[in-house]
Amino acid sequence: MLIGPTSAFAEGEQREIRAGKQRVLVLKHRGEVYALRNVCTHESFPLLGGEVEGGAITCAQHGARFDLQTGRALCLPAIKAVRTFPVETEAGLLYLRVEP
Ligand code: FES
Repeated sequence: MLIGPTSAFAEGEQREIRAGKQRVLVLKHRGEVYALRNVCTHESFPLLGGEVEGGAITCAQHGARFDLQTGRALCLPAIKAVRTFPVETEAGLLYLRVEP
């Protein structure tokens, strides 16, 4: 699905996008756009608004960190990875690939 023009996505910006039943967090960090399920695997709070640093996002609720590229849980209290989704750029537009 189309997210929008790459130029309209600012560094550090975070947005929740609904793709069917999926709540997807799309964010830009160090020039790259990442997409993760916007649900922490610890207690299901949204990851939206979490601090992003060093290629990882920190859940604001209890501090679990997730790798932006792989979704891997980097520290407790989360132990399960968060799902990630591919983001592609074509002709200046960003597309999110969400499989059901
Ligand atoms: S809900 Fe995210 S760390 Fe607890």
